[in-house]
Amino acid sequence: TDLSKIRNFSIVAHIDHGKSTLADRLIQLTGTVAERDMSAQMLDTMDIEKERGITIKANSVRIEYKANDGENYVLNLIDTPGHVDFAYEVSRSMRAVEGSLLVVDASQGVEAQTLANVYHAIEADHEIVPVLNKIDLPAADPDRVAEQIEDVIGIDATDAVHISAKTGIGIADVLEAIVTRLPAPKGDPDAPLKAMLVDSWYDAYLGVVVLVRVIDGHLRKGDKIRMMNTNAAYPVDRVGVFRPKMENIDVLGPGELGFLTASIKQVADTRVGDTITHVKKGCEKPLPGFAPSQPVVFCGLFPVDNAEFEDLREAISKLSLNDASFSTEMETSAALGFGFRCGFLGLLHLEVIRDRLEREYDIELITTAPSVIYHIHMRDGTVVDLHNPADMPDLTHVDHIEEPRIKATILVPDEYLGDVLKLCQDRRGIQLDLTYAGTRAMVVYDLPLNEVVFDFYDRLKSVTKGYASFDYQMDGYREDKLVKMQILVNDEPVDALSIMVHQDRADMRGRSMVEKLKELIPQHQFKIPIQAAIGGRIIARETLSALRKDVTAKCYGGDMSRKRKLLDKQKAGKKKMRQFGKVEIPQQAFISALKMD
Ligand code: GTP
Repeated sequence: TDLSKIRNFSIVAHIDHGKSTLADRLIQLTGTVAERDMSAQMLDTMDIEKERGITIKANSVRIEYKANDGENYVLNLIDTPGHVDFAYEVSRSMRAVEGSLLVVDASQGVEAQTLANVYHAIEADHEIVPVLNKIDLPAADPDRVAEQIEDVIGIDATDAVHISAKTGIGIADVLEAIVTRLPAPKGDPDAPLKAMLVDSWYDAYLGVVVLVRVIDGHLRKGDKIRMMNTNAAYPVDRVGVFRPKMENIDVLGPGELGFLTASIKQVADTRVGDTITHVKKGCEKPLPGFAPSQPVVFCGLFPVDNAEFEDLREAISKLSLNDASFSTEMETSAALGFGFRCGFLGLLHLEVIRDRLEREYDIELITTAPSVIYHIHMRDGTVVDLHNPADMPDLTHVDHIEEPRIKATILVPDEYLGDVLKLCQDRRGIQLDLTYAGTRAMVVYDLPLNEVVFDFYDRLKSVTKGYASFDYQMDGYREDKLVKMQILVNDEPVDALSIMVHQDRADMRGRSMVEKLKELIPQHQFKIPIQAAIGGRIIARETLSALRKDVTAKCYGGDMSRKRKLLDKQKAGKKKMRQFGKVEIPQQAFISALKMD
């Protein structure tokens, strides 16, 4: 294809502002998919994405469009994830295209992820076309939102396209804007092949599929290619494009986006950001490298039923084939037996993986407290990365501990600002900035990541009735007074409940955890002490009294159905319990005990 007739773009938006709906409309209006094959949200492939309405994997689609100037254009859309956990995927796919549509809900205005994502686009030097969506809603105020885009983001919004992705108003204008306002890609057809590895995933039929953006030269079926960073070479089996279904073609030229397959065994063999060239007459310099995505949140996953360990191992290895950012390692816990220590990009990522294991693979799991990576500076000068509080070295050898910090941006309507400030303060936050965008306050906080990984987002939503939006970036490590808190149940430490806490908050956290556990652990035939301890020092204690009588006793043998129900309920409850020494702890206790409220 002639370079001047190609436009590559992405759509950036806050969650729910209508990115997927707009993408579907563009596909529909250009007849890329026959009407009868159209299902809502073409680009979101996984079921869980559809259910939760979130986009996880970057996807791409090729649209052919005859513009008002009478010429035929090829438009390549890269779909990017909208959630904070996947910020890295957003930034890397942005590098594969030249422009962005900035979609903002005209009834809501700019939100935290609008900002975060548009900054990725600006960093990638994109030409940006503002699109004001949902103008069909009575509450839509496109003029005010256009003004807000100019004030807050600092880009010109006078020519913003007004649309309703739902009713179809303005979609044709969006297509014209893509052609007339976004730049064509540049590239040299005669230079050696240079292509960017944008993304990769595992397909049950085709093996590893690699999404590529050709910069210079041509990529053909049968070519021998080399990944410049890993230095691995492969013969190309197949080259193609997404319309949005995969379709084989003969060649991808400069400026084009498409896929290749090449008998690559696992996703881990493909490094996102790597440069692909030919084995013979390859290009000399690779593209500037990308930082690999690093897991930031870790937790242990254990089967409720020990006999399911092998199933869990298999399920995890299948999932990690398709997700290079999900790291796993075998872990044994004195209390929980065999399981895995897993690393995730963030909490949503953790939830998605846990949900898939439970639903698609039908494995009941105990998830231990999420933890971040601490840097433990030892007295002998070495630094240890601590992923699991249970592995905390003996304090006599520790000089100091550093924890990861984040820079969080929160946008919130005025009336909830006080609650948000209090929440951030309670989580050891340091306020960096407070400004206004219309009737919304924008606060920037420096927060410890470990105060955010657990239930910060849920709390933020609940104190603001869902009106706050939140985004964060990692912001280095800092020393603080951190200690490991252990929980002892019936005098035995339960390592899966160990957490790292700030010294000043240890008493409060300890008290709240033992109180909650007292509620969550059922009574036994004997008294059970539940304690929180730091080192050898007990900081909080509760006692769960012994069970006096048989649970069915109060039914007086009269009402059999009620008795049976009670027994059934007990049995079901039992399935989700784990034995710790002589005590049974229900599965849900591991997470519930940690909630702060
Ligand atoms: P993520 O994939 O989660 O990032 O969301 P998204 O930005 O792709 O939003 P999506 O397209 O899923 O739309 C969110 C909701 O807004 C859906 O319920 C849509 O039906 C609705 N919606 C999208 N566009 C319009 C519009 O123009 N008008 C109205 N009234 N609703 C719309």
